[in-house]
Parts: sequence; C-alpha cells; structure tokens
Amino acid sequence: MSFEDLGLGPDTLKALADCGYTTPTPIQAQAIPQILMARDLVGLAQTGTGKTASFTLPMIEILSTGRARARMPRSLILSPTRELAAQIAENFDIYGKYHPLSKALLVGGTSMEEQIKNLERGVDVLIATPGRLLDLFERGRILLSDIKIFVIDEADRMLDMGFIPDIEKIASKLPAIRQTLLFSATMPPEIKKLTAKFLSNPREVSVAPPATTAANVEQFLVWTSQRNKPRVLARLIAQENVQSALIFCNRKRDIDGVCRLLQSEGYAAKPMHGDMVQKVRTETLQAFKDSKIQLMVCSDVAARGIDIDDLSHVFNYDVPANPDDYVHRIGRTGRAGKTGRAWTLALAEHDDKLVQAIEKRINKPVPVYKLEGADLPGKQHQPQDSRLNTARPSRPGVKAAPRKAHAPAPMRQPVPEAAHANPGAKGFGDGMPDFFKVKG
Ligand SMILES: Nc1ncnc2c1ncn2[C@@H]1O[C@H](COP(=O)(O)OP(=O)(O)OP(=O)(O)O)[C@@H](O)[C@H]1O
Ligand SMILES: [Mg+2]
Repeated sequence: MSFEDLGLGPDTLKALADCGYTTPTPIQAQAIPQILMARDLVGLAQTGTGKTASFTLPMIEILSTGRARARMPRSLILSPTRELAAQIAENFDIYGKYHPLSKALLVGGTSMEEQIKNLERGVDVLIATPGRLLDLFERGRILLSDIKIFVIDEADRMLDMGFIPDIEKIASKLPAIRQTLLFSATMPPEIKKLTAKFLSNPREVSVAPPATTAANVEQFLVWTSQRNKPRVLARLIAQENVQSALIFCNRKRDIDGVCRLLQSEGYAAKPMHGDMVQKVRTETLQAFKDSKIQLMVCSDVAARGIDIDDLSHVFNYDVPANPDDYVHRIGRTGRAGKTGRAWTLALAEHDDKLVQAIEKRINKPVPVYKLEGADLPGKQHQPQDSRLNTARPSRPGVKAAPRKAHAPAPMRQPVPEAAHANPGAKGFGDGMPDFFKVKG
C-alpha cells in the first residue's frame, strides 16, 4: 500500500514525499479513501499513528476545488486545546504547501484582530478551539453556513461534559448536509453513543480497539507513598536515559513544586498548564520542542494530540483519574515508529482503584517496577493480579542520583533490559512495527 493508491493528487503526494513519508499508516490507508468518497467517519487509532494526516490530506484534496467567500469558511476543525489547534494548522501548511489554500487559526488567549482580518479575506480551513469560535460567531464575525467538512479531533474529549454544550451549539450552526469526521485514540462507550447525533450513516475505521496503548511505549508502574514521591520521581529521571520528558501532575498546584524540585536537581524544567498566560504557554512549548528545556511539568493540557519529536519519556507523577487520560498522556512518547518509556507513580494507600481502571481500559496489566531502597511504605503493595508480579522482574536497588550542577544531561545508568528511544529513526517506514503495518 502506498500513498499513490489512496486517491491523493500529485501536489499532495509531492508534499508527502518532502516530509519523507513513504508508507501510509493503517489509519491513513483506511480513512483517506473513505473521506475522499465524502463519507462521515469515526477514525480510531493509537496515539502517534498519523490521525492528523488521515483527515488533513483528504481535506486538502476536497478543498482544492472551489473558493472561499469572506467570513464563510468551507471547513472547520475543532480541537480541545490551543496548542493542538496550532499544531494541526502547522500540519495543514506542511501537507498543503503546494495548494493555494487559506486557513485561519481561532484560539483563545491571542489577539482577535488578526483572526478577524483572516476571516474577512475568506478561508478554506478554520482550525479552532470551541470558546473562541463561538465568541467570534456571536460577534457576527463569522458564518458557519458554508461548512462542507466538520472535523472533531480528540472527539471523545470534545463530546464529554466539559465541551458538549459548546459542540452542540456549534453543530447547530452548521449546515445539515455536510461531511463530519471524528478522530481519537480513545472512545469510551458512553461517549460513542453521543456521536450518532453528529454523524450520518458513518463508517467506523478502527485500527485497534479504542484505548489500545501505542505499541512502542514501554510502561512501568512504581508503587510509592506521598512522602516519597518527589524522591522517587527524581531517582527515576536520573536513572533513565532521558532525552526529554513530560511529567504529568493531576493538580496545577503540584506542578510548580515538582518543577522547582527538578530545577534544584539541575534539570532545565518548566511548568505548563492552563492558568499560564498564552504567550508563556506558547514560548514554553516552543522551547521544549527546540530542546532548550528538557523536562516539562504539565497538566492534561499537554496530554492530547501534542506531537513532540524525540520525546523519550513520560512520567505520571500522579495516576490520572480518567483511564483514557492515561492512554493519551503516555502516547506523547513512542510516536511515528519510535520507542518511548512511560512511568507511573502510584500511591500504595490510594491509587489501587485508579490503576485497576486503567488496566481494565487498556486491557493489560502495567508492569510493576520495584524500586528497592527507595524507602517505600512499610506495607508492600500486593497487586491483585498475580501477573503483575511477573510482568517485570524486580531488580537491585538503584543509587540515589547525586545533585547535578548543570542542565541538561541527567544521564545515569540506563535500565538494562529496556529498549531505548531511537531519536534517529525517521517516520514509520521500515522501522514501523509489524503491529502497525497494513496487510495486503
Ligand atoms: N505515513 C507516515 N509516515 C511517517 N510519519 C508519519 C506518517 N504519518 C504521520 N507521521 C508522523 O507521525 C507523528 C504522529 O502523527 P499524529 O500527530 O497525526 O498522530 P495521532 O495519531 O494524531 O496521535 P494522537 O492520538 O496523539 O493525537 C507525526 O510526527 C507525523 O509527522
Ligand atoms: Mg492527533
């Protein structure tokens, strides 16, 4: 299977060749022809397997005929976060570089002036977060009656309680006859039921059961106590071969504390959460992408969709309350055929149920790693599933990391039996694991 077989035009194929993509991923191979046939579609595939191109490539083809009118965009992509919306817009530029398509990015926390000017000129693609889109709509700056293609990325997140009123309002402004595409790596059954009212006679393209974790993310769970958590995190970061890592906290108030701890250990660490001003959020993410920051301590604002090259590790400082968030958080690593490692710190006294919910959702146990000598709580946690004990042999204790004078370079003893991030690898190509390969 090649991109040529999917019905894409020569200009799009040229842009893909420029990206170095040789083979479509399974979701691309299955979704693109369906979208080109104007079908509604729910596309479910693991994190980091190219869902963005699955909808942007056929959209570029479809939009390449026709013209946009002032204030009447022809297609709309919704994203839950500003950073993800910006990333999708970048993807549009990359894949659409040989097409004269115009786009506007409508996200909160930035000036409206430029956005309004773009809308006045007429845009083919609107990429937006729901709040800013509705704001501009209510100010009469935008009409949604000419939308031919409506995409909801991270669809299950967008249809959950926090976003659904906005999404319903937006959908009610769109023409009834349109093409609707929903994408995500997760789709809990209760949200799946809601999708029906946005779609008409949809195709479901499911590369793997929803919430299947990315195949090349190695996962570990460390049981610890609240008191020892900071120390355990610092030790794990020190012993792993961390190129760059995201560290997720459940509470914003913990983010600064964890960040200070890591800075005091000598790492270039910065916080990232929704209460920060947008300018600082954008600069922080850019600095992280440019490797000027090695560790980003973040809330779930960075959990979905964000694609960072060569992110070797994810650490869950807290077990996420929602099992699907686990899938998305750890899916920030191990993308595009590369490998990555994800560590979760769980509190022996609290997190049993959350861990069980995650294991049920991902349909496998998360191997337990016993960090001996870490001054763990007196009562050793006994996982209920005996398989957990054998999933990974315990290993001798690791020495505490000495304080480092400078960042970066937290290089310590790598964990021996592990595969490591392979930042040199490019795309899925030959390095694509069998699991991802399209048959036939
Ligand atoms: N066919 C391909 N060949 C090589 N690399 C690809 C291909 N398609 C996409 N990629 C790369 O794979 C990475 C992940 O793509 P993308 O962000 O679209 O994943 P996703 O499935 O949307 O993940 P998530 O569920 O986390 O949002 C990107 O860096 C992208 O450039
Ligand atoms: Mg995505």
